[in-house]
Amino acid sequence: MSDTNSLAVHPGTALAFQAGQGHFEGMPVMASGLSNHFLRASVIYAIFGMGLGIHMAASHDHSQMPTHAHLMLFGWVGMTLYAAIYRLWPAMGAGPLARIHAAVAHLALIGLTAGLYFIYGGNIPVGEPLATVASLALLANMGLFAWIVFRGTGRAAAVS
Ligand code: HEM
Ligand code: HEM
Repeated sequence: MSDTNSLAVHPGTALAFQAGQGHFEGMPVMASGLSNHFLRASVIYAIFGMGLGIHMAASHDHSQMPTHAHLMLFGWVGMTLYAAIYRLWPAMGAGPLARIHAAVAHLALIGLTAGLYFIYGGNIPVGEPLATVASLALLANMGLFAWIVFRGTGRAAAVS
């Protein structure tokens, strides 16, 4: 007898839970990959954001506080939330929309961080257009994520 139970998540996808080991195996490759990808990215953003925080504290120059705050909250907290959500609802991570969501999240966060860094470093002509485009991309991307969430939690997505 096997110690592995199979649970149908959505048509064509079997999710196997390894009894006693507390982890999932055989998750849809893309869904699991997306969650891991967000989690890996979040710790990288956290390292850079904390590095900036330490630099601010050590230099007694807090002018980059908004850059630090957004890198920590979007990069560390937000990306970790995405990782958890794509892990808890793996079917949401399948398909091209979730991959677009991931790509835009990173490009726009990097753009916003760079834009804020320039703005609060005094180079507004470079920083402002970057931050404008990036923040509009982040807003649109949240709209895309809202679509992914509503689609993934609607009646049609209910596990039968
Ligand atoms: C190595 C760790 C960290 C260091 C050295 C650090 C340092 C700082 C410093 C010096 C400030 C400016 C404070 C001020 O001028 O009032 C600040 C603000 C801030 N930090 Fe950090 N930080 C760290 C970790 C974090 C983490 C983990 C988060 C969030 C998850 C975070 C979120 C924020 C936010 C949101 C602000 C702005 C607070 C406000 O609006 O008053 N920081 N941090
Ligand atoms: C489209 C995305 C966003 C834009 C354009 C944006 C813009 C701004 C701006 C212009 C400020 C004022 C900065 C200043 O004091 O001069 C601010 C402050 C702040 N924002 Fe955002 N924000 C965005 C998303 C977020 C998100 C998602 C979070 C949290 C998860 C967040 C957390 C904060 C916090 C804690 C502050 C106060 C800290 C500070 O003064 O630096 N923001 N934001």
